[in-house]
Amino acid sequence: MPARTARGRFLTFEGIDGCGKTTQLRLLARALRRRGLSVLVTREPGGTPLGERIRRLLLGRASAGMDPHAELLLMFAARAQHVRQVIRPALASGRVVLSDRFTDASLAYQGYGRGIDIALIRRLHRAAAGGLRPDLTFVIDIDPRTSVRRARRRNRRARRDEGRFEREAVEFYRRVRRGYRALAAREPRRGKLIPGETTPERIHSHVLAHASRLLARGAPRR
Ligand SMILES: Nc1ncnc2c1ncn2[C@@H]1O[C@H](COP(=O)(O)OP(=O)(O)O)[C@@H](O)[C@H]1O
Ligand SMILES: [Mg+2]
Repeated sequence: MPARTARGRFLTFEGIDGCGKTTQLRLLARALRRRGLSVLVTREPGGTPLGERIRRLLLGRASAGMDPHAELLLMFAARAQHVRQVIRPALASGRVVLSDRFTDASLAYQGYGRGIDIALIRRLHRAAAGGLRPDLTFVIDIDPRTSVRRARRRNRRARRDEGRFEREAVEFYRRVRRGYRALAAREPRRGKLIPGETTPERIHSHVLAHASRLLARGAPRR
């Protein structure tokens, strides 16, 4: 049976779209499982049946023109369920939980990106998610133009006039990126800013080094 750690560990992956979160999360999950650890991989929005339904609302056609507060509250509705139903129980049983995004994404996107009051988002986090704090957060840092270029490559089939959309996207992602950098700087022990414009293997070696250090430390207080 895979090994469990005392009180579990909670690691999150953050950064603008296309920075490489999902790629890095999979590499870390594989590396930790090879060491015999019990790893739970999850994501936000999502991670529970309710959360996945909310995810479809947030990322589907219904999201066009969605009010920023509506978006924020749906994120926290999904997160409240996720923390209670999945993350807390997994940590309590000593598993290593890797989540593709968490509350930092709300702070960066809805806060820094859309201009919602940061203090409000922190209050929601305390109320809806019990203030749960990751042990380690990887902020993969790339230029927004790289993000748009990677997205374009992926969506090549859906070709249309994307000029204006891309310019807006770059402006928006610049604010989100600044937000993520500020969040990482504010909590340097938890938040690790990782340069993302290099090979997946190099990024992974940084991620694995931080994760290994965390796992070698004593059980976190939670
Ligand atoms: N270090 C990297 N260099 C170049 N391309 C990458 C790198 N990491 C991931 N990619 C590619 O960029 C795209 C976005 O990566 P992904 O891991 O899905 O990012 P995210 O989950 O942050 O949106 C994918 O097509 C992936 O193959
Ligand atoms: Mg992803």
